[in-house]
Amino acid sequence: MTQAHRWWDKIAEKYSNDPIADVKSWDFKLSKIRENLTPETRLLEFGCGTGGTARRLADAAGSILATDISGEMLGIAETRGREAGIGNISYQRADFADFDAPSGSFDVVLGMSILHLLDDRHAAMDKARQLLKPGGLFITSTACLLDGFWFMVPILPIGRILGAFPPVKAFGSARLKREIAEAGFEIEYEWRPKPSAALFVMARKPG
Ligand SMILES: C[S@@+](CC[C@H](N)C(=O)[O-])C[C@H]1O[C@@H](n2cnc3c(N)ncnc32)[C@H](O)[C@@H]1O
Repeated sequence: MTQAHRWWDKIAEKYSNDPIADVKSWDFKLSKIRENLTPETRLLEFGCGTGGTARRLADAAGSILATDISGEMLGIAETRGREAGIGNISYQRADFADFDAPSGSFDVVLGMSILHLLDDRHAAMDKARQLLKPGGLFITSTACLLDGFWFMVPILPIGRILGAFPPVKAFGSARLKREIAEAGFEIEYEWRPKPSAALFVMARKPG
């Protein structure tokens, strides 16, 4: 079991009950994602957490595979999906580093609030490109700590030892955008409500 896995399992219940910090921004991002979904869309979400995003997208997509490293997070996602009577989301526990599916299996690969948590986000972006069909969309929202929360960087290792934070990587939005392009995507849309907020990006795998 990895440190990240343990951390997210431990806070799953609390995470599921915490209110969303910025509902207006979340709604806006969901609306932009929905513009790109059709009843035929096969969507993969990695790091789905307790499944709120997948549930909000389910009626606009054909099928959603929601994955997460944490069994506790995923358990809550499954229960809530079932209680909501949603039939087109399936769930799979997986570290995204180990997730495997045939190339080109998905029209959209989605990772919300996750890239900054990964040991190797470059490998994750490579995998997203490989999993997408040509012309598919990679959509992310990512905390770019160096853009507004650089003062947190020295605190992160201490917070991690004390169990207050999960493992987090610090970088800025310019670097993230460069990395997305280096992974072979064309950025079509980017948005954030203010310069210190998470960067929302929609990037296309060339057709
Ligand atoms: C900040 S939460 C975001 C959850 C959800 N996407 C959202 O926006 O509410 C990060 C999630 O990523 C998951 N996670 C962390 N590392 C992961 C990995 N290597 N592979 C898959 N999921 C991971 C955690 O278990 C957690 O559920």
